Amino acid sequence: MGLNKKSVDDINVKGLRVLCRCDFNVPLKEGKITDENRLVAALPTIKKLVADGGKVILCSHLGKPKGEPKPELSLAPVAARLTELLGQEVKFAADNEVVGPNAKAAVEAMKDGDIILLENTRYRAEETKNGEAFSKDLASLCDVFVNDAFGTAHRAHASTALIADYFDTDHKMFGYLMEKEVKAVEKVLNDITRPFTAIMGGSKVSSKIEIIENLLNKVDNLIIAGGMTYTFTKAMGGKIGISICEDDKLDLALDLIKKAKEKGVNLVLAVDAKIADAFSNDANTQFCAVDEIPDGWEGLDIGPKTEEIFANVIKESKTILWNGPTGVFEFDNFT
Ligand code: 3PG
Repeated sequence: MGLNKKSVDDINVKGLRVLCRCDFNVPLKEGKITDENRLVAALPTIKKLVADGGKVILCSHLGKPKGEPKPELSLAPVAARLTELLGQEVKFAADNEVVGPNAKAAVEAMKDGDIILLENTRYRAEETKNGEAFSKDLASLCDVFVNDAFGTAHRAHASTALIADYFDTDHKMFGYLMEKEVKAVEKVLNDITRPFTAIMGGSKVSSKIEIIENLLNKVDNLIIAGGMTYTFTKAMGGKIGISICEDDKLDLALDLIKKAKEKGVNLVLAVDAKIADAFSNDANTQFCAVDEIPDGWEGLDIGPKTEEIFANVIKESKTILWNGPTGVFEFDNFT
């Protein structure tokens, strides 16, 4: 594959201990997983490593426990659900140190084809600081490192970034999920049929700024959707009620609008919103202009006028790159 990265198809991991970094950051409600897409997406890579006869050690973050154990953010429910999905035990290595005595003992006891899941990597403060001690601990558990955490690929954390430094090129690789996404992005960036439209969703302009700036050099249309909408709307002087907003990024939003204009990119922003009086699927809803959201109400999805505008741009496009949620998709009423 591209980017000179190997994939799991380039190796047979029989008898080897493989640490596979996944993104199991699933939504949980009262200990129950409410959307298991990320677990299902990880299965092909896990199955391949097991079929080879590898000792498969899975790891992931979940939520933001901020460097300390938080039982409500334990990955235990994920191990239970993966066990069902794979039809094979995924042993949970409960360990508040993530790579502490319990996890080490669990790895020690593994047989070829076994699977274990480590505790939430963010129980360790070094994780989000790309810290050396933790990445070394993780690396010490395994012979091969597989990164399949596409949803986390924008974070330089100990278990996604620094850890790779401890493996030579034959012993670190991408899983299928990561490989598929990288190939898709490469195709879009190198083999574009125009008009080329990017749809950017998600709640934070700050975490997308580099992608957006980069895309402004390539796309014909840039649709901004999702929670980011309200930072742009407020920056332009609109009333957004209690909609999500990065108040310290208003200048950034204005700057992006200016850059889009300079580069001749058609920046497409919402004109109306589906608003709610609570952050809940059962909230009362109505439609209003995106810049006239009443106090106490918040925008959770686009309105019908915006749907039509977005749809027209999308229908005219020959290449589309879509990144991030464009509404509160977790709630059926705001998908
Ligand atoms: C995500 O859900 O966006 C990824 O898993 C990254 O999670 P984070 O925003 O908590 O770093």
